[in-house]
Amino acid sequence: VIYVNNAGTTWPKPDAVPEAVAGALDAEPADAADRFRAAHERIARFLDVREPERLLLTPSCTGALAVALADLPWKQDDVVVTSALEHHALAGPVERLVRDRGVTHRPIPYRPGTPLDLDLLRDVLRGGGVRLVAVTAASNVTGELLPVQAIVDLAHEHGALCLVDAAQTVGLLPVNAAAMRPDILTFAGHKGPLGPPGIGGLWAAPGVRFESPRAVCDITAGAACAPFPTYCDVGSTNLPAAAGLAAGMSWLEGPGREAPGRARKLARRLAMALGERPGVVLFGGLEAGRTATVSFRIDSLPVQEAEAFFRERSILLRAAAHCAPMALEAIGSPGGTIRVSFGVFNRGGDVDAVLAAVDEAIPAGR
Ligand SMILES: Cc1ncc(COP(=O)(O)O)c(C=O)c1O
Repeated sequence: VIYVNNAGTTWPKPDAVPEAVAGALDAEPADAADRFRAAHERIARFLDVREPERLLLTPSCTGALAVALADLPWKQDDVVVTSALEHHALAGPVERLVRDRGVTHRPIPYRPGTPLDLDLLRDVLRGGGVRLVAVTAASNVTGELLPVQAIVDLAHEHGALCLVDAAQTVGLLPVNAAAMRPDILTFAGHKGPLGPPGIGGLWAAPGVRFESPRAVCDITAGAACAPFPTYCDVGSTNLPAAAGLAAGMSWLEGPGREAPGRARKLARRLAMALGERPGVVLFGGLEAGRTATVSFRIDSLPVQEAEAFFRERSILLRAAAHCAPMALEAIGSPGGTIRVSFGVFNRGGDVDAVLAAVDEAIPAGR
C-alpha cells in the first residue's frame, strides 16, 4: 500500500523506533529513571531547547495545548489571537476560555497564499488587551506554513505572549526553540519526529508562569520540588514512548537527514500537478511554502467517498474534516477535503500513483 496520511500519524517508523520501544520495555525497572532522563535530554536537544528542565512531556500535543492554554493566569477580557487555520486541539481549549474565563477570541481571517496576514495581526495587537497569540506553525489541512518568526516577534513587540503549535512542523522542518523564542512551544511525537503514539510535549520559556489547577505541572513551583521534569511526571512515565521518540529524532539527524526535504518536495510536485487539473480544486496557495501536505477536492468525487475510492487503489489517505472545522470554514470547504500527506518513506512513484487515481476519478472529456 501507499501510505500518505503522515500528517495524521507517520507510518511506518524507522526500525530504530520499535527497537527502542522494545528496549525500554525490556529494561530493568531500576534503570527506568536514567533512561527517561536520557530520552528527555535527546528530545530537548532535537528542539534546541536550552532549558531542558522546562520541557514537559505529555501524552499528546492535544494534552500539551490543553495544559498550556488552561493554566496560563487568565484575566477577564484578555484577548487571544489565533490564525483561522487552527486544529481543534488549539481551538477547543480557546473556546473553553471564552466560555469559562471571559476571554475574547480574535481569529485572523485567511486568504489563500496568505495563511496569516501580518498587517491584520498588527492591527489587532495595536488594539490592545492581547494576552496571547496562539498559532499553528503550519495548517494540518492545507499544509501552508505560517510566518511564525514574524508572528512571535510581532507578539513580543506588543507585549503579548506567543504560543506556537508545532505539531505539523517538528520533524519536517527545523524547529529551534532557542532561535524562535516563542513563550510556549508544543509538539506531537507521533507525527514528523517519528515517535510512537502517546507522546507529545510543551516547552515554556523561562518566566512563563502557569497556574496549575489540574496539578499536572507547575513549572514555577518546580524549583521548590524535585527538579523539573521529575516534578511533572505524575505517576509512571511513558518511558517506551519517550525512548521511541528519541530514537526517531536520532534517525532524522542521522540516516534520515534528507528524508523530510524529499517529502516536502513530493508535496510541492503533487500540488503543482493538481493545480493544473480541471475538475480539481487545490486548497492553499503555492506561495507561502508548505509542509508535506496537500489538500484538494475533486468535483466528481464526494469527499465522503474519497477514502474508499483511493483505498481500492491501495492508497491510504485521509478524506475528512481533519479535526479542524475552523480551518475548513476558512478555506471554504466545510465538508472536508481530500488530504495527501507525505512522509519520510514516500517516493516519486507515490505522487504518480495518486495522480493516476485522481485522473481516474475525473470523468473523461473534462
Ligand atoms: C496542528 C495540530 N495541532 C495539534 C494536533 C494534535 O496532536 P496529537 O495527535 O499529538 O494530540 C494535531 C494533530 O493532528 C495537529 O495537526
